[in-house]
Amino acid sequence: MKAIQYSEHGPADVMHYIDLPDPVAGPGQVLLKIEAASVTPFDWKLRAGYLQNHFTLPMPSVPGRDAGGTVVAVGNGVTEFTVGDRVAVMAGVFAQGGYAEMIAVDEKHAVAIPERLSTVEAVALTNAGLSAWIALRAAEVRSGDKVLVHAGAGAVGGLLVQLCHHLGADVTATCRSTNRDYVLGLGANRIIAYDQEDFSELLKARDVVFDLMGGEVHDKSYKVLKKGGHLVWLVADPIRDRGAEFGVTVTRAMVSDDKSALQSMMELAGAGILKPQVARTMPLSEAAEAHRLIEKSAISRGRLMLTM
Ligand SMILES: NC(=O)c1ccc[n+]([C@@H]2O[C@H](COP(=O)([O-])OP(=O)(O)OC[C@H]3O[C@@H](n4cnc5c(N)ncnc54)[C@H](OP(=O)(O)O)[C@@H]3O)[C@@H](O)[C@H]2O)c1
Repeated sequence: MKAIQYSEHGPADVMHYIDLPDPVAGPGQVLLKIEAASVTPFDWKLRAGYLQNHFTLPMPSVPGRDAGGTVVAVGNGVTEFTVGDRVAVMAGVFAQGGYAEMIAVDEKHAVAIPERLSTVEAVALTNAGLSAWIALRAAEVRSGDKVLVHAGAGAVGGLLVQLCHHLGADVTATCRSTNRDYVLGLGANRIIAYDQEDFSELLKARDVVFDLMGGEVHDKSYKVLKKGGHLVWLVADPIRDRGAEFGVTVTRAMVSDDKSALQSMMELAGAGILKPQVARTMPLSEAAEAHRLIEKSAISRGRLMLTM
């Protein structure tokens, strides 16, 4: 099979489009012919070596935290899937990732793709969806809550806006001014354009803030929460926890491979409640260029996808 692989941390050029032996389905595993994989901020940060304090990546490594395609073989003991099924899978950090033409994963890491969704759409909902769902669960958003979603035009933020809107929350989102109408279309009630306005001067008494940015955005977010409010963060960099000072709860959303969470996202999308957001597709062979784009924040309005 064709795959993207790197043997050392470094710039996007360390990634090479190469031939690798086809994987085989071990016991309890499904083998997929991959149609699409997501390109996430995590992928480039891991490749660049910025996450070495958290993960020691075995080298060489095939990147990618998710994939979707058609089952072409099943290992012994697989009960849920058969050849021909369309599935989306969560790929572990240490196993082979989704930037390849084939992947073998445990069936506990696979979910069926609803008929309503294309495979590309389903994968756009896989790693991003898992992140959004786990953050939402941590925040315990209720109908009527005043919620602030940072980075509402991003892959995870866009799903959080949709989920909070679906739950009946009053949703404010931050995004670039040119993305205002796009994020309103996802269900936000109000937009604060981060390139024109300072959210911390315009908002107060939020029940929940989702911080997908860290740094200065994190620091300023305390001020807009009500006492007893909840700041849920999901960034790689450490934050300065000022929860006690402001009387708010601070929770890190720990994203892990959670099949029931992913299934919930697929069900919502299958019912038409949640719309997966695909920013752009590029061929697998252009993965290095895809990383350059995401690294310089040139991707907006959903996920950048590789197609095989
Ligand atoms: N810890 C975890 O397990 C975990 C899991 C998933 C994601 N994350 C993190 O969550 C973040 C978002 O992930 P993603 O996949 O949604 O990324 P993404 O699709 O690349 O989105 C990034 C978004 O950030 C927005 N942005 C940039 N500067 C901003 C600012 N000052 N204020 C508000 N928005 C701003 C951009 O908005 P415009 O397009 O409008 O400019 C862009 O759409 C990343 O940092 C990622 O590492 C962490």
